[in-house]
Amino acid sequence: MDHFLYKNGVLHAEDVAIPDIVASVGAPFYVYSTATLTRHFQLFDDALAGMDHLVCYAMKAASNQAILQTLAKLGAGMDVVSGGEYARARAAGVPGERIVFSGVGKTRDEMRLAMTGGIRQFNVESEPEMAVLSAVATELGVKAPITIRVNPDVDAKTHAKIATGKSENKFGIPISRAREVYAQAAALPGIDVIGIDVHIGSQLSQLEPFELAYQKVAELTETLRADGHDIRRLDLGGGLGIPYTRSNEAPPLPTDYGAMVKRVLGHLNCEIEIEPGRLIAGNAGILVSQVIYVKEGEDRKFLILDAAMNDLIRPAMYDAHHDIEPVIEPQAGAERATYDVVGPVCESGDTFAKGREMAQMNAGDLVAFRSAGAYGAVMSSEYNTRPLIPEVMVNGSKFAVIRSRPSFDEIINRDTIPEWL
Ligand code: LLP
Repeated sequence: MDHFLYKNGVLHAEDVAIPDIVASVGAPFYVYSTATLTRHFQLFDDALAGMDHLVCYAMKAASNQAILQTLAKLGAGMDVVSGGEYARARAAGVPGERIVFSGVGKTRDEMRLAMTGGIRQFNVESEPEMAVLSAVATELGVKAPITIRVNPDVDAKTHAKIATGKSENKFGIPISRAREVYAQAAALPGIDVIGIDVHIGSQLSQLEPFELAYQKVAELTETLRADGHDIRRLDLGGGLGIPYTRSNEAPPLPTDYGAMVKRVLGHLNCEIEIEPGRLIAGNAGILVSQVIYVKEGEDRKFLILDAAMNDLIRPAMYDAHHDIEPVIEPQAGAERATYDVVGPVCESGDTFAKGREMAQMNAGDLVAFRSAGAYGAVMSSEYNTRPLIPEVMVNGSKFAVIRSRPSFDEIINRDTIPEWL
């Protein structure tokens, strides 16, 4: 469920009419709903009620400071994957003890930043990383709390570019070698082993792969405890998918996911962490864009928008589908047309949808890409020197620009000219 609905024939974000934002900010832009963000966080938090747990929002999905603060105020922890994300989480007021550091290639500088600023735990992904972490912690005179990310060799049944839990993927250590690596960890002076971490992929549409992975984690917990390790925390990763089309079969709800977690892992009395990103932010944001031209091709019509692949790369990168809807609700029986929906960038890959049937559109009309809140703004670039588009946040009948559009001068002035020119 989200809060982007037609009211009196006009698409609204909560109680704000989209054309009102366009009038003040100009298209294109992203707009997020506070109510949807809040609702989605709460769904996860409620789903794990009764277990000692922390929902660590995977901020790679959408990391604007206003989004982070909204979630932080609800008590969210954060899953970060870079020094920059760590700094963002701290700047949003998230205490170190609610920040989890994931990622396959943490640098010494990032480790130092997190250990001096405060950290809940590092999710370690390899033996060399663990050795470096131990050394950095020892230099700082502390012990680094860690889980080790195990790769359970489970098929997440999702797009190949976002599946992470098979043995051919670069993530984690093979679960078959876990005992050996935990023994190594216990012998390192700067390491404090506290748990196990697993994340098998993103946009999962079924519970079964999660359950298979979590069963393996449950078995491993017992084995490692028998080996003498004090396993007291399980980080279960993120990955629960969202409906990208209205017609699609809906993926499982956080409630079902939570019930499964309790069933498979509840008896272990571990503290549970989860790292959802997409399910919290995905349907909490839309991308609003204006039609520049409608172009008649030889055998097709092109809807040329002012948003492009640099603003939303998911269709070009993952063949992802986003519903595209007119901001002004079409009248019943209005004419329909079939378009290739494209942006102005000089690449054929700058195509949002091929052969998409929708209400007939004209130059100047506004459209909304639904489900664009996660992995939208954060993956955008200034390719073709197209300024990063603004982000707007709505709360009831209020809206605010939470990242403004840079001017051309601001973009150009980031470059510097060598003295020899
Ligand atoms: N935890 C870890 C360790 C992750 O690598 C990820 C996502 C998450 C949590 C959050 O997963 P989520 O709940 O959002 O599925 N750019 C791609 C998605 C990449 C996901 C990367 N890792 C897309 O646009 O579909």
